[in-house]
Amino acid sequence: MQRVRLRLRARRQEYEIITGQGTLRIVGEVARQKLGPHARRAVLISNPKVFKLYGERAAKSLAGAGFDVPHWLMPDGERHKSFRTLERALSFFAESRLERTDAVVALGGGVVGDLAGFAAALYLRGISFIQVPTTLLAQIDSSVGGKTAVNYAHAKNIVGAFHQPSVVLIDTETLSTLPRRELTAGFCECVKQGAAGDVRLFRQTVKFLEEQWKGARLQPSDNLEKLISAQVAFKAAIVAGDEREDATRRDHRSRRILNFGHTTAHALEAATDYKHFRHGEAVGYGMLVAGEISKGLGMLSRSELESLRAAVGLCGRLPRTGHVNTSQLAQHLARDKKAVGGHVQWVLLERLGRARLVDEREIAPQLLSASLLSVLKA
Ligand SMILES: NC(=O)c1ccc[n+]([C@@H]2O[C@H](COP(=O)([O-])OP(=O)(O)OC[C@H]3O[C@@H](n4cnc5c(N)ncnc54)[C@H](O)[C@@H]3O)[C@@H](O)[C@H]2O)c1
Ligand SMILES: [Zn+2]
Repeated sequence: MQRVRLRLRARRQEYEIITGQGTLRIVGEVARQKLGPHARRAVLISNPKVFKLYGERAAKSLAGAGFDVPHWLMPDGERHKSFRTLERALSFFAESRLERTDAVVALGGGVVGDLAGFAAALYLRGISFIQVPTTLLAQIDSSVGGKTAVNYAHAKNIVGAFHQPSVVLIDTETLSTLPRRELTAGFCECVKQGAAGDVRLFRQTVKFLEEQWKGARLQPSDNLEKLISAQVAFKAAIVAGDEREDATRRDHRSRRILNFGHTTAHALEAATDYKHFRHGEAVGYGMLVAGEISKGLGMLSRSELESLRAAVGLCGRLPRTGHVNTSQLAQHLARDKKAVGGHVQWVLLERLGRARLVDEREIAPQLLSASLLSVLKA
């Protein structure tokens, strides 16, 4: 079992992220330890698919630690990360008469975690919340750092809150049932974290992909546990230094570097109506576009760009992009929600493991379109 501690100095708050094989069986014990003796109820939020696979294990463990465990299942899928679902979750809390000392346990991928976390942030102005992420993306990225949200008015994550969990409990065994595409998407985000901020993490990720990932199912192993924990430690360190993603920061440790690959990814997802790519797959392409631009600006060497390409390739096959309408894509690019003062801020690479924020006005339109074409129409 690996433990990482995330310290939020400004709030004098800290929490643990625990990674191991079979940790679902200790979720009750851990929850009791973190929530204290007064917590009576732990509402389990999940979706039917995940609950069927892992709900009983989690519920049994929580009940064994003395919790009353009502559960509420949201429908599966990104489109249900909505106000409507949020309202239904809050109604369930009210009907179950949840109290301030009770807690919400999110069992599932990033969709469940983001929605359950936001509901926990709102109910009684904030009750405790435990993340039990079951996708690779949720384990290494979305469950750590306290961002919670729903989608609204065709914009992703546009309404939300910072609400940090009391603990994050990662069971690597849950990844054995995750479909191949979800794994590929999660590995793209692993490559992203290493490329944007930690070259050793980048190398560890590549080594894992070369040696342990055969592009099919993922079996639990010590190396997988170590990789996930290293990814979590990286994310925790970035969040600890910039919890709220300060929009005025432009340095290479800003939380914004985690958006490496995301400017193009968001545009690709929007231009294809969120139906064609898993988010992480779009990030795979987005990193390559950002890499091309970085090289075009004389920042990233050819060989480093090659290493980035190879790493993305190791994550698995990405959906084709030949049909993507590039003029639509350009329109979506101009509307990136992370824009500051109306200008899109690109996260580019000076080298592997070191990002630089670059205002779109520093990128010639020809370089942008050539980079998009070379990656998406190759
Ligand atoms: N809060 C943050 O900081 C943050 C960061 C990144 C992404 N996100 C959000 O995360 C969401 C994406 O999360 P995701 O990629 O986990 O998608 P997801 O939650 O939709 O899960 C993907 C699919 O895998 C299924 N699944 C989950 N666990 C499984 C398991 N162990 N075995 C088999 N199937 C399983 C789910 O039911 C779903 O069908 C997006 O909404 C995104 O905005 C949030
Ligand atoms: Zn992402």
